Amino acid sequence: MLKTLVSHKKIFKNRFLNFLGLQVYRILGAQLIHSIKLKKNQNNLQKNGFDIYENFLSKDKFASITKEFNKAYKEFSPIQDNDLAYGTKIESVPIEYLKEKKKKFPNLLKFLESKEIFDLVSDHELISKDRLSKRGTFKVRLEKTFQGKNIKNNKYRSNSDPHKDTYHKVTKIIYYITDVNQDSAPFTFFNQTNRLNFKILLKEWIKSFTEPNGAPRFSEKFLKNVSSKKTTLTCKKNTLIIADTGYGIHNRGLIKKNNIRKTIWIEYRNSLPLIP
Ligand SMILES: [Fe+2]
Repeated sequence: MLKTLVSHKKIFKNRFLNFLGLQVYRILGAQLIHSIKLKKNQNNLQKNGFDIYENFLSKDKFASITKEFNKAYKEFSPIQDNDLAYGTKIESVPIEYLKEKKKKFPNLLKFLESKEIFDLVSDHELISKDRLSKRGTFKVRLEKTFQGKNIKNNKYRSNSDPHKDTYHKVTKIIYYITDVNQDSAPFTFFNQTNRLNFKILLKEWIKSFTEPNGAPRFSEKFLKNVSSKKTTLTCKKNTLIIADTGYGIHNRGLIKKNNIRKTIWIEYRNSLPLIP
């Protein structure tokens, strides 16, 4: 029981314990540990919940990574995923595939395991670089997003609806291989929702015993009351976005016909988020 309590399991299915505040204690516990470790001089990511780095790599490095990205889709049959509610189709190539034929993808693998990426994650998680792999898990994949079939399913929990990934801090990096505009599923973040907010907490408490089926979803109407602004990250290729998608409310925008979004997706989760 105690192990599950401090684990990265999004939510307990036990409505009664959640009514008594179990999920709220977990959220508060994670926030408390995070704020103890936080330094006085906070960077943009810690303050606002996200940050953007344009022209992240040199032109040459970006070109070689793009080349290998496209090569990966010719080399492997990607994993297919459909967002049933909005007809978004995602084809992904996990890093494990690239590692199988590592000689063919030297630049991509170098980038994914680079000091720059580890520094960004380490700064946000407040865990030293050499302890990151011990304390948590990286998930990495290449993603191609485009419009697929729209299958109506109201029960489906879409990532295009504003949500939190879980109850604790999560570091998400999205690196844009193509330009991403309004019509090509831009990442959207509700500013400063990464900070402790009573209205959000109350909503999460109610959802924890009324619909304990995973990470909570929030309506735009509710969000107008809790976040002064939402930022849609329409950016040029070679832009890196980093965001806290555990505390912060965010969503993936919709993709329109004849658009394609190519991105590299990196996520880090601490496996024991309630242990400092
Ligand atoms: Fe998410």
